[in-house]
Amino acid sequence: MSDAQTKQAIERRRTFAIISHPDAGKTTLTEKLLLFGGAIQLAGAVKARGDARRAHSDWMKVERERGISVSASAMTFDYAGCTFNLLDTPGHEDFSEDTYRTLTAVDSAVMVLDAAKGIEGQTRKLFEVCRLRDVPIITFINKLDREARDPFELLDEIEQTLQLEVTPASWPIGMGQRFKGCYNLFKDELLLINKGEKVTSDAERCDGLADKKLDERLPEDAVATLREEVEMARGLCPEFNLGSYREGNLTPVFFGSAINNFGVKELLDGLAEHAPPPRPQPSAGRTVEPLETPVTGFVFKIQANMDPKHRDRIAFVRLCSGHFRRGHKLKHSRTGKTSNVHNPLLFLAQSRDLAEEAYAGDIIGIPNHGNLRIGDTLTEGEDIKFTGIPSFAPELLQTVRPEDPMRAKHLGRALQQIAEEGAARVFKTNIGSNWIVGVVGALQFEVLADRIRTEYDIPVKFEGTALQTARWVEADEQLELKRFIEANGGAMAEDHDGAPVFLARNNWHLDTAAKDHPKIRFLKTKEQTA
Ligand code: G4P
Repeated sequence: MSDAQTKQAIERRRTFAIISHPDAGKTTLTEKLLLFGGAIQLAGAVKARGDARRAHSDWMKVERERGISVSASAMTFDYAGCTFNLLDTPGHEDFSEDTYRTLTAVDSAVMVLDAAKGIEGQTRKLFEVCRLRDVPIITFINKLDREARDPFELLDEIEQTLQLEVTPASWPIGMGQRFKGCYNLFKDELLLINKGEKVTSDAERCDGLADKKLDERLPEDAVATLREEVEMARGLCPEFNLGSYREGNLTPVFFGSAINNFGVKELLDGLAEHAPPPRPQPSAGRTVEPLETPVTGFVFKIQANMDPKHRDRIAFVRLCSGHFRRGHKLKHSRTGKTSNVHNPLLFLAQSRDLAEEAYAGDIIGIPNHGNLRIGDTLTEGEDIKFTGIPSFAPELLQTVRPEDPMRAKHLGRALQQIAEEGAARVFKTNIGSNWIVGVVGALQFEVLADRIRTEYDIPVKFEGTALQTARWVEADEQLELKRFIEANGGAMAEDHDGAPVFLARNNWHLDTAAKDHPKIRFLKTKEQTA
């Protein structure tokens, strides 16, 4: 393949995630995007909505029991000449860590809002994560088929609470029972909802808002309101500016109703047209450009036991540059080892296939036996390390024990795997060798207990501890660190990589340790092992 073709293929990639508050309609929208992208044929294929899906993310037992065949963490589909990679972000706040990492692997995001609710808690949190990396955002205001808030009020809320400029890309005509459709402001097209059949009618091109077609198709009062509102919106909002959107300062807003397939195609067209192709990725030392020839990538997620029949582990790799082919030799920068990637996987909506080739922006899955970890960099030989994939200090700590004490060793192995996967922090105390598991959200304990029981066949018990928080400790001089560890023996543990961790009983304990040992750095987050 020529350089020009490779360049074209990379520029056609759109790698994105959907962020939303639970129940805003992320699952429904995902499904409809896949329908338009031809990746699934039937609505209803992306099941396990609501709590079941959120509590037991991805390949968890509940989903398997429901016969879900969607490989949900990453899905690839083609539409309008572009290849879309849609990454799943678990909606429940307890999984924010996983979500954060997923957002390091995307180039843009779609923010879904419930038109009756506007910006909600989780939307805001996820938005903050996007803002940290200036991820450009397209907004989809969903559920216009229900009584909703005034569109001006919604736009104003986005602008005020998120400090983001807002440009309507479409404008709703009525809402709830009176919802007639939208007027596409970018293309001057009228889009009417065909309620009986629950599908979108074809867009009708108009010659601006004055076009007589509007008067023919819509009731008089609806046309009058539309003209008036659009005029006001155009006066109040800035014009769409591609640069400003791509820098993360402006969001175009589409209105629609995912469940009725309404507005979804326009959203997808918007993504194809405006969302950025793969972005340059920061690494320690230099920025890697997507059009560089050598292949590079980083692991942003590990999923173990996706298929209970094969005890496999899949590392999800975001390719950052180059044109990858099956069998390619890649160097693993943490260990320095080079290996051929014989069976990389590409994730389609309902299956996973061997990836014969992939480009910067794509997500490939690499089956492995635990040598690949979150944050690892893969290259064709250059020693670089992609940055910005942190590991978080857990906020909740519990001890875990097997119900059968004879299985302590097996539990140790299971915990090691789970820690490497990034699903939880696992610490082994220096004194007593107890396992302490740290998570960001309480629900994770339940999910972990369920996983350890079903995947490793070890029934376990989690129990509360008097510990409040954990900090990785570092010092410039090793002797200093050794002294600190000795002085605080009872509060010291090691993480799964053997890095020292201080387990604090409360803030006072942490503050005192910091005061007594000024040369020690107490880290809340740890960049993944280099
Ligand atoms: P989530 O992934 O963001 O949590 O949301 P999900 O898609 O599961 O949607 C949450 C609820 O909102 C679902 O109803 C879904 O059918 C509904 N919904 C999604 N889009 C629209 C829309 O455009 N209009 C209306 N009126 N409803 C919408 P549910 O009753 O919780 O689930 P289900 O019984 O429909 O599966």
